[in-house]
This record gives sequence, C-alpha cells and structure tokens, in this order.
Amino acid sequence: MVRSKVTVVGAGNVGATAAQRIFDKGYADVVLVDIVDGLPQGKALDMLESGPVLGSDAKIIGTNSYEETAGSDVVVITSGIARKPGMSRDDLLLTNMKIITSVVEEVVKQSPNTVLLPVTNPLDAMAQRTHQVSGFPKNRVVGMAGILDTARFRSFLAEELSVSVEVIDAWVLGGHGDTMVPVTGNTTVGGQPIAQLISDERLTSIVERTQNGGAEIVNLLKTGSAYYAPSAAIVQMVESIIFDKKQILPCTALLEGEYNISGLFVGVPVKLGSRGVEEVIEFALTEKEAAALKRSADAVEELVEVMKKANP
Ligand code: NAI
Ligand code: 2OP
Repeated sequence: MVRSKVTVVGAGNVGATAAQRIFDKGYADVVLVDIVDGLPQGKALDMLESGPVLGSDAKIIGTNSYEETAGSDVVVITSGIARKPGMSRDDLLLTNMKIITSVVEEVVKQSPNTVLLPVTNPLDAMAQRTHQVSGFPKNRVVGMAGILDTARFRSFLAEELSVSVEVIDAWVLGGHGDTMVPVTGNTTVGGQPIAQLISDERLTSIVERTQNGGAEIVNLLKTGSAYYAPSAAIVQMVESIIFDKKQILPCTALLEGEYNISGLFVGVPVKLGSRGVEEVIEFALTEKEAAALKRSADAVEELVEVMKKANP
C-alpha cells in the first residue's frame, strides 16, 4: 500500500488528536510538528507504539523542524493560541497571524505542491493569510470550520427530533464566528424540510446554540477549546483530498464573485478532491440568508483589514 503523507503543524489538542485519528486509520504517514521541544516527538512515539494494538502500520514522527515534512500531500495547520473563557476567536488575531506566517513560509519550502488546510483561529482570516504567504493558487488553500459548525447543528437537531445524525442534511456557511449562517432553508431531515418538523422558536434556539457552540465548550473546559469534533472534521477533509473523493463539504475557500463576495475566504460548500477546492458550489439562498452571509463576510473583512494594517 502506498500511503499518503500528512503533516500536522501544532501538536496541541487539535493537532495531536487529528494526527491520532489519521494514524489510527493507517492510510497515511504522519509528521507532527511543534515548537515545543519533545512535545511532538513524545506524542508521535506514543501513537506509534499504539500501532501493534490497533493494527496500524503507518509511520508517525514528531519534530521541531520542517525537513521531515517534505513532499506532504496535505499540511494541516493548527499551530497558535486557543481561546480561554471570555475571549473571542478574534482576540487571537495578531498573535496567530505571526505564527501562521512563519509556519507557512517553512511548510511551502518543503512541500510546494501540497494542499494547505488551516485550522488556527480566527479561521477565515488565517486562511486568507495562509493564501497570501504561500503564494499558492486558491484551490490549494482550504480552511476547516464549516464541517465543525454543521456537525454541531446536526447533533443538536438529531437530539431534538430523536433521529439519527445521518439523516440530517444541513449546512452552516459564512465566517467561523458569531455571524456564521446555519442555512435553515436547505436543512432537511430524511428529505423533509426542517420547517415542517420543528417550531420556529425551537429552530431559532438551536441556531443560536450552534452559533455559540465553540464558546459552550470553552466555558465548560475553562482551559482551552474544542478538539474532538474539530479533529474529526479535519480528518473528513483530509480523506476527501487524499482519496480524491470529491465530497461536497462546507469549507473555507477564496471567493471571487461567488455569492457576490470577492477576494475573501468564507465558508461555502465546495467540491473537495486531490487538487483541493475543485469547485465552489452556489446554493440558492433566500434573501435573508444571502444578507446574513454578506454580513458574515463583512466581519471577516474587518479582521483582514486589521491584519493588513499590522503587517501588509
Ligand atoms: P493548543 O494550545 O492545544 O495547541 C496549539 C499548539 O501550537 C501548541 O502545542 C503550541 O506549542 C503550538 N505552536 C505555537 N506556535 C507554534 C509555531 N510557531 N510552530 C509550531 N507550533 C506552534 O491549541 P488547540 O486547542 O490545539 O487549538 C489550535 C488552534 O486551532 C487555535 O487557534 C484554536 O482556536 C483553533 N481551532 C480552530 C477550530 C476551527 O474550527 N477552525 C476548531 C478548534 C480549534
Ligand atoms: C470552536 O468552534 C474553538 O473555533 C473553535 O470550537
């Protein structure tokens, strides 16, 4: 079996859990990178030693440098600081911008043909920075957030309606922040429109819980933010890319006129395959949903402007 090669930068909660999920499945060799001496090495060795029990023959190494990442098919970027209670994702902006800039510069020297998968928050702004620093074509930079936000929405709806999560078809678009847009008009349960199954009041409350889903976990954990659902979402994207599955998934991609938005990374449905974003899918949105998406894109633009002023 020829295995793909996946690098995960940042061996913290999200990065290490994503590396573990990929290693456990055995289909890709993994390189885990962090600036903390011993952290990626120790976690990678621990995961490697789980191989005989799990039946994974994949290789996994940890490192503080980038040579070992050469020729990666996908590079997942989770390096940066995470939210603590009382902080918004936007509070992380300038610190994480510097981290992303230095990481992307190193990554692209080793893997000039890779697909970059930024995860660090504030996600849409970091995807924009990743694209700028890498100089990659837009299809090879794709951010993770929409799958996570949509998974939260689907979990809450499944619980409310007492049905399998698998029968809920839903989409959360826009920026990964308070302005994200759960597209209720397109949400179906076993093919039935959601509006026929749930009161407006309950749906509004589930939409609000989804929009605050990240903060709900931060307030419970107190020392960091979510990582089990985020890492599962990363793995779905990695698989769609390395197996060229061409799944249609909500991801953060550069828009150039789609949804009447230009020059910004925002969460939209994309076809994700071996070349990264192979197509941006344009849903027919209601007027209200289109306006909400525009507001969400405006919030992303504000962060992009702050970054430009700090470091053009
Ligand atoms: P964490 O604090 O557990 O891990 C971050 C890791 O990055 C640390 O191990 C740190 O040493 C490392 N790091 C810092 N600077 C680095 C550098 N220059 N090079 C290499 N490694 C470096 O944080 P966690 O929970 O893993 O979250 C990581 C990021 O992902 C945060 O910004 C968080 O907000 C974001 N996130 C985004 C999600 C999304 O949906 N897009 C979901 C969950 C988290
Ligand atoms: C989340 O939504 C922290 O962005 C991360 O959980």
